Order: sequence, then structure tokens, then C-alpha cells
Amino acid sequence: MLDIAFAKPVLPKSGALALLLEQDAAAGSPTAALLEAADAATDGAVSRALATAEFKGRRGQTTTILAPGAGLSRVVAVGLGKLAELSDRHAEDAGGHAAAALAREPAAAVATVGLTGAQAASVALGAALRGYRFDRYRTTEKPEDKPKLAKLAVLTAEAAKARDAWTAGRAVAEGVFLSRDLVSEPPNVLTPAEMAERCRKLESLGLKVEVFGPKEMTKLGFGALMGVAMGSACEPRMVVMHWNGAGTGKGRKAAKPLAFVGKGVTFDTGGISIKPAGGMEDMKWDMAGAGAVVGLMATLAGRKAKVDAIGIVGLVENMPSGTAQRPGDVVKTYSGQTVEVINTDAEGRLVLADVLWYCQQKFDPRFMIDLATLTGAIIISLGHEYAGFFSNDDTLSEQLRAAGEATGEQVWRMPLGEAYDKQIKSDIADMKNVGGRPGGAITAAQFIQRFVNGKPWVHLDIAGTAWSSKDSAVTPKGATAFGVRLLDRLVATHFES
Ligand code: BES
Ligand code: MN
Ligand code: ZN
Repeated sequence: MLDIAFAKPVLPKSGALALLLEQDAAAGSPTAALLEAADAATDGAVSRALATAEFKGRRGQTTTILAPGAGLSRVVAVGLGKLAELSDRHAEDAGGHAAAALAREPAAAVATVGLTGAQAASVALGAALRGYRFDRYRTTEKPEDKPKLAKLAVLTAEAAKARDAWTAGRAVAEGVFLSRDLVSEPPNVLTPAEMAERCRKLESLGLKVEVFGPKEMTKLGFGALMGVAMGSACEPRMVVMHWNGAGTGKGRKAAKPLAFVGKGVTFDTGGISIKPAGGMEDMKWDMAGAGAVVGLMATLAGRKAKVDAIGIVGLVENMPSGTAQRPGDVVKTYSGQTVEVINTDAEGRLVLADVLWYCQQKFDPRFMIDLATLTGAIIISLGHEYAGFFSNDDTLSEQLRAAGEATGEQVWRMPLGEAYDKQIKSDIADMKNVGGRPGGAITAAQFIQRFVNGKPWVHLDIAGTAWSSKDSAVTPKGATAFGVRLLDRLVATHFES
């Protein structure tokens, strides 16, 4: 994690510096004053370079000036657009662009003149998030090829307020990093048992953690989850994480907990309905829903959120073998409903079926939100820009949509309906686990809805957003931790006492 400090807005005379600049700044504006200060130290080199580069301060526009004079190694100008239109998200993006442009400097400062303390904390968050890198398994990389940025001073007139806001921002970044680490780990390392062990470590943050193995889950009657696990040499796990932050003070009525449920398929070969070889390595991140739930729970604990929340992850590996389940098998779920397994590659819904039923039976939550890299079909529908969601609750849906706008983890509501539900009728059991190609993400959601027992519920299909093939402002390519920031914001805005 980038080491962030907040300091008074005095420009350093040496080292590396990012200037966050307003678009078309008027004379006398904070931006004009900042440029004057930079020019004073560099004999006008900064303004000359920006004019040559046609830097206008448009949102996201970035220009790097090398060794402009004095002791400055690098000055990076990052456009903010119009200050009056600057949202937290734009401030985060500016921090992300600055961090990317400063990556080769071990230490740097970012001047945020004209921004509030809260916005300066957003700049810090964006910079921290962009600075993430998973390099545990690189052993021969040359030092000069490694990104170096380790310390960042964020210069702001409201340093105290910024520090305050950063306490929560830091916990968010830590939850995101935990989630990205889990999703990035190779599948030979991150087995269900290993992931459960990493969940257990969160007890140090004040979470209560329960781990269920195959014996307990068989005894409970998790026939669907155990059916998926059957082909793997790795034992399945279910992990239940409790965060009790609402407190028990007088006058506070014990509210029902919020519940978050994640699909944690640590590797999805497809099972006997095996996937083609090309790109199969991507299926190591088929546990990203579970990864988001774990990151979220760590965030809530890390910032001591005033809420009671449960996080549950179903962890299995989907393998073909002599003990694997077959197409045609009928399994009995924990709910008692039976499922004809037509395609062993539609395994995520089988895992969620048992875990969701357990969740609502055991905890009677205020709502359940499940996250899953569930279908290729959602990628066909929405690409990689929005996650698709399905819900039986309009209020919660609108709250979630707004949290998506605010954090940039955008979500788009998809339909549910009886006509879709018909597609999963089975000739021999209560339902089958696939509904054919038309509306594949929707029929998957219909399947899951049969296991929520009418409770307020959202299903988030994050197959298109859990992993990114290109860098963006606050998310380097790779695991995105999609869902952590979205749900943390949902909780913070609507559900904390
Ligand atoms: N894990 C996959 C879905 C997926 C695909 C996630 C691409 C990320 C990227 C899921 O288990 C799966 O295999 N779904 C099948 C369902 C089908 C057999 C009905 C799919 O989408 O093809
Ligand atoms: Mn699958
Ligand atoms: Zn899967």
C-alpha cells in the first residue's frame, strides 16, 4: 500500500510533483496560483511545456515534464476538468492518473489546490488503488523495471479533514487489495481450504469466522454444493464471517444483519461438461464473487462500520474426474428442492443454491446480496462496463444503482419473470440447472431466485467486471475487486446506525 501523508499546500523544491489543474483556469484561480508557484521554481519551464503539449486541463488529460529545472525530477500535470463539476469519482481518477505517471519515482507530492479535504482524500484513494500490483511470483524482474512509488504526500489546505476521510478510505483500499490478491492467486495455491484459512486470518480485524468442511456440509444436506465438489481432490469449504458493528447501546433495537454471499469456485474447468482449452486459465478468477465478499467484510471491519453484516462464501473446485458429477445427475439441495444437472459447467448456481438457503434460514437477514462470476451471457449483454443485477426489491435496486454511479462500479438492472423461469423446468426433477442459450444470465438468476425464499435479494453477475484486460484510472489490469467499493458505499449510505 502506498504510504500516504497529508501536508500543507507548499510546493516542494525538489523531487517529483503532480499538479492537479482545473480546465481553462481563470487568472487568480487556485490553479493559476499553483502554476505560478511551479513556474517560479522552474523559470517558467512548466507553463512552456504545458503550452507546447496543448495541455488544457481536461479531465484525465496528463502531461509529464522531465527535469524542468531546480531540483525537480518530474512534474506531472493532470487535468481535473471544471472544478465546479468535480465529483469524488473524478478526484479519485485524477489521483489514479497521477500515481500512474509517477510510478517510476520512489516518492512524490500531489498538489490539490482548490479541492476540499474530502476530495484530497479521494485523490489519495485513487492513487493508492492504481498503485496496486500483484508481484508475489516474480523473482527475476530487474529493479529498474519495477514500479517504485512508495510514498505520496497529498498537499491540501484541509489536511486535518483529509486525514479524517482517509481513515475510511484506507480501509476501503485494504479491502480492495485483499480481494485483488485472492482473485490473482493461482488456482494451485488458492484452493478452497487455503482461501478458508485466509478468511480465518480476518479474525485479527475483529470478525468472527466459522469454517465448514465436507462433513458438516454433507450432514446439513448441501447436495448441490457437494455435487460440484465431488470431482475435485480438494475439499470444499463454506466460510461464514460475522461483523457486529451496530453496537447494543440502549434504545437501539437489534436490527437484522445484512448478508453478502459469494460464489467461490477456485477453478472452473467446467467439470465433465469440460470447457475448451483456450483461455481456461481465466477460470482461476471464478471465485471473484467470494473474493469481493471477503474484501467487503475486511473493509467493514477495518473502518469499524456501524452495522451488523454476515459474509458467506461457498468454496469449491469444479473438476472432471472419475468421481465427478455427471450430466443427468439429480441432486437434492439443502432447501429440499431437486435439480437435474444438465451441464456440469453451470456449477456456480448450484453452489449458491445451498449457501443462499443456509443464509436466509440461519440469519433471517434484512437482505441478501450475492455476487458471482456466473455467466458468459452477461458479458454478451453488458460487456465489461456494467455488472448485471437482478432483484426482487425496487428500493434496494435503486440504492445499489446509485452506489454504482458514486463509486464507478456501475450496475445495470436486468429483468426477472415467470416466462424465463419456465426455461428451467425439468422433466424429472424440480428444475434443471440450465435454461438454454436465450437469456442465459436471466435464467441463471431465475434459478438462484428459487433459493432466496422470498427474502429481499440482489444477484450481481460480475463475470464481465471481475477481471480487466487493460489499465484504467484507479484499476490496473487484472483483478478489479468489483463489488467491494460498490457494497461498502451501499452500506455506508443507507445502513449504518
Ligand atoms: N464461471 C463460468 C462463467 C464465466 C464465463 C465467468 C466467462 C467468467 C467469464 C460459469 O460457471 C459457466 O461456466 N457458465 C456457463 C453456463 C452455461 C453452461 C449455462 C456459461 O456461461 O457458459
Ligand atoms: Mn462453469
Ligand atoms: Zn463458474
